[in-house]
Amino acid sequence: MVAGARGGCAQAGAARRGLLALLLAVSAPLWLQAEELGDGCGHIVTYKDSGTMTSKNYPGTYPNHTICEKTITVPKGKRLILRLGDLDIESQTCASDYLLFTSSSDQYGPYCGSMAVPKELLLNTSEVTVRFESGSHISGRGFLLTYASSDHPDLITCLERANHYLKTEYSKFCPAGCRDIAGDISGNVVHGYRDTSLLCKAAIHAGVIADEVGGQIGVLLRRGMSRYEGILANGVLSRHGSLSDKRFLFTSNGCSRSLSLEPDRQIRASSSWEWINETGDQVRWSPGQARLQDQGPSWASGDRSKNHKREWLRIDLGEKKKITGIRTTGSTQSNFNFYVKSFVMNFRNNNSKWETYKGIVNNEEKVFQGNSNFRDPVRNNFIPPIVARYVRVIPQTWHQRIALKVELLGCQIAPSNDSLVWSKTSLNTVGSTNREDETILKPIPSEEMPKGLNVITIVTPLVLLVLLVAGVGIFVVLRKRKKKGNPYGSAKAQKTDCWKQIKYPFARHQSAEFTISYDNGKEMTQKLDLITSDMAG
Ligand SMILES: *[C@@H]1O[C@H](CO)[C@@H](O)[C@H](O)[C@H]1NC(C)=O
Ligand SMILES: *[C@@H]1O[C@H](CO)[C@@H](O)[C@H](O)[C@H]1NC(C)=O
Ligand SMILES: *[C@@H]1O[C@H](CO)[C@@H](O)[C@H](O)[C@H]1NC(C)=O
Ligand SMILES: *[C@@H]1O[C@H](CO)[C@@H](O)[C@H](O)[C@H]1NC(C)=O
Ligand SMILES: *[C@@H]1O[C@H](CO)[C@@H](O)[C@H](O)[C@H]1NC(C)=O
Repeated sequence: MVAGARGGCAQAGAARRGLLALLLAVSAPLWLQAEELGDGCGHIVTYKDSGTMTSKNYPGTYPNHTICEKTITVPKGKRLILRLGDLDIESQTCASDYLLFTSSSDQYGPYCGSMAVPKELLLNTSEVTVRFESGSHISGRGFLLTYASSDHPDLITCLERANHYLKTEYSKFCPAGCRDIAGDISGNVVHGYRDTSLLCKAAIHAGVIADEVGGQIGVLLRRGMSRYEGILANGVLSRHGSLSDKRFLFTSNGCSRSLSLEPDRQIRASSSWEWINETGDQVRWSPGQARLQDQGPSWASGDRSKNHKREWLRIDLGEKKKITGIRTTGSTQSNFNFYVKSFVMNFRNNNSKWETYKGIVNNEEKVFQGNSNFRDPVRNNFIPPIVARYVRVIPQTWHQRIALKVELLGCQIAPSNDSLVWSKTSLNTVGSTNREDETILKPIPSEEMPKGLNVITIVTPLVLLVLLVAGVGIFVVLRKRKKKGNPYGSAKAQKTDCWKQIKYPFARHQSAEFTISYDNGKEMTQKLDLITSDMAG
């Protein structure tokens, strides 16, 4: 029966090979299509070096007669780690219902039924094709799979709870994509989470990692509490929880203190709501009332805001700060059921233009999930952080009327005692003058890090070009007899990938500069990869 399944795969493989042989020119698109095949796939989130994948309806019953086939990859040169969080396939024979992994050198599975399945597979390739197939069946949750590159041997799945581990302190790697996996968490980042909570989902709730990317988490186990308060944070709802023996906290970098605001000087708004109450007094919902820790009504926008999408609340922090999160509430007044359901963030520094905070993966404006009632605070974290003096909250959707109280979380930018921070700042200063001419044509970079990147991509090639031209000049003078055709001086060289240009004479210098500027930017890794592969090649 097992052979039957394999036979089926072999047939499919043979058919595919046949197609390839017969229609060589047409086959490429067909091949590409086959990489994500069928309607049996459920939740899939992939990022550069980790991800999560489930069968359809997981953890409900997977449908009859479906196929899910997907090729997952990690960066070339790394090995893939697969971790099965759950496998529940109703079949003892794996004939028509099975899960199978195929890499260029090996095959793992088919898996099904009650057979012993390895919890973790370390492949020696960076690519594997996952195939799930179902026939006719009554029950079965299907599968939940997470993967990462071999850089993360401590990968866990989205389903691990803190009470799986006994150590009082440990570190694990959460894959991208755990936010929307079913399973409870209770508690919050300040007081801790009940030990029955899902670790990775709690880490997203706590703002330790971004769901789109995943990442390393540090966990501390502590004595439990009698009651766990739940809140909505980063799109994850934690529930209230009752007494437990143990709770856990996340280790943090300490940059999540409340940033103090002076109401009159530092908070402004596009409009505010004023009206006369029964006793003839003017009631104000002014921007100065937008501090979360203050009692009384919040800020609310004026009447003209009804169909107006660009109302804003602006906060001046007095100096550039690192902002890692925001907490918001609605009106906080039970007789005024006003709150902001979603918003975007803008930020800027002394002389620059407003920039929109963007998601970490796609380059689009990031919309944050705000409040769902007038009362309860909701937290959203910025990963990576915003580094700015001014921020603006721009409501996108709201209930009845825009009403907000806010608190910003973050820290001072450390006084730069090391040259690394200094050189980064100075690069950015150069950039702000340089960028003026670019503003109209170029999309505005989202945060500090990509801004640094732009500066380098603009400045470095220029500097290099000057140096190269000078070098070429000397070269030519010294060796007049040699032919003129110099690759560096030609216009063609300017157009080709600048990293290739850089690599040859300045490779060492260049990579040192990168370490300075993008300690956590994803762009960095891309560029570094480029450089490494260039240097290798
Ligand atoms: C990967 O492992 C298989 C056996 O598990 C072996 O045949 C193959 O040569 C290995 N490939 C590499 C590149 O190490
Ligand atoms: C699959 O089909 C069988 C027979 O038609 C049916 O009894 C069963 O409920 C179906 N299973 C699912 C998961 O839809
Ligand atoms: C009207 O507003 C004033 C000032 O805010 C307040 O003292 C008074 O109680 C309000 N009257 C009513 C009927 O709400
Ligand atoms: C921004 O303005 C503040 C106050 O006017 C000033 O103290 C600070 O040095 C300025 N920062 C920059 C980078 O120009
Ligand atoms: C400078 O910063 C480093 C950490 O980046 C720290 O270890 C060191 O103590 C600091 N030095 C001074 C003089 O503050």
